Amino acid sequence: MRVMLELWGEYPELAMAETRGILVGEGISYSIVEKDFPVVILETKEWEPLKRGGLLRRISQHISTSMDIPEINLQLDDFAVRARRYMGLRDISAAMLEREIGRRIKGRVNLSFPKHVVRVAIARKIHVGIELYNTSSESFESRRAKNLPVSYPITMHPRLARAMVNLARVPRGARILDPFCGTGSILIEAGLLGMRIYGSDIDERMIEASRINLRKFGLKAELESKDVGEIEGKYDAIVTDPPYGKSSSTRGEDVYQLYERAFKKFQEISSKVVISLPDQRSIKIGEKYFDLVEMYPLRVHKSLTRYFSYFRI
Ligand SMILES: C[S@@+](CC[C@H](N)C(=O)[O-])C[C@H]1O[C@@H](n2cnc3c(N)ncnc32)[C@H](O)[C@@H]1O
Repeated sequence: MRVMLELWGEYPELAMAETRGILVGEGISYSIVEKDFPVVILETKEWEPLKRGGLLRRISQHISTSMDIPEINLQLDDFAVRARRYMGLRDISAAMLEREIGRRIKGRVNLSFPKHVVRVAIARKIHVGIELYNTSSESFESRRAKNLPVSYPITMHPRLARAMVNLARVPRGARILDPFCGTGSILIEAGLLGMRIYGSDIDERMIEASRINLRKFGLKAELESKDVGEIEGKYDAIVTDPPYGKSSSTRGEDVYQLYERAFKKFQEISSKVVISLPDQRSIKIGEKYFDLVEMYPLRVHKSLTRYFSYFRI
């Protein structure tokens, strides 16, 4: 079927990579019909697994894509049309489109509790679809640092943590390790996706924080306080956000020395690593041990850009 995805506008390339990661991880064949960021039209065998996406706003059944007000021939018993203009790329009014498209659909308009929501996404073109799924921002909201039982300034945003897990291209049930787990944000997202989760951190307080936070979501993980160099076992993927040598502690160790030790260990225990790194120098260290498949810069603030990187052996 043909679906229309509305991706998180802030990081469209990363959101697209996450989408690919989900489909490849779940073994679903697909093709990209059109990219008009943050709107992407896909032909896919299955769409439900795409609900895993952290950087996804909505999934709709695609109806039309056009440069102007679409001529659609649709009958819906009870519906509302909702339009959204992305990044002001087209100077066309969302309210006008809602009215005009609504007039072209046969059926009863119900603006309060419609059975069907017709989504209109305005980017360079006008895309129309019938909504299948809406990522209620509420569920991600409940996992933001301010709503967790224990959080620190290092706590990662749940949508980004989710995207990192999806970049690893693994199916449900995979064994995921976060060896710098901090307050557990990556483990929570992996656990909610049905992964088997393993976490470690050198700081005992962080292990306790992860334990408490995971409990809030009914998740169980194997957690241990240990240095990254002491980890044993085999994992389908490592997904992690190591210290940058700034706000989070390395216990006095030079951060590049730590990355060197970490990548050396990762090579022994997994063939896939998704990691957030602070600069090119740290990416080069990763490339000594793995192949860099893809990398996405995320500007956090003036002096900090994180590079979400996917490495594979
Ligand atoms: C950026 S934080 C991780 C934040 C985490 N993603 C979260 O959302 O809370 C990095 C973590 O690495 C841990 N750490 C620092 N050096 C370590 C080492 N040598 N081995 C294992 N963990 C270490 C720190 O205690 C810190 O919790």
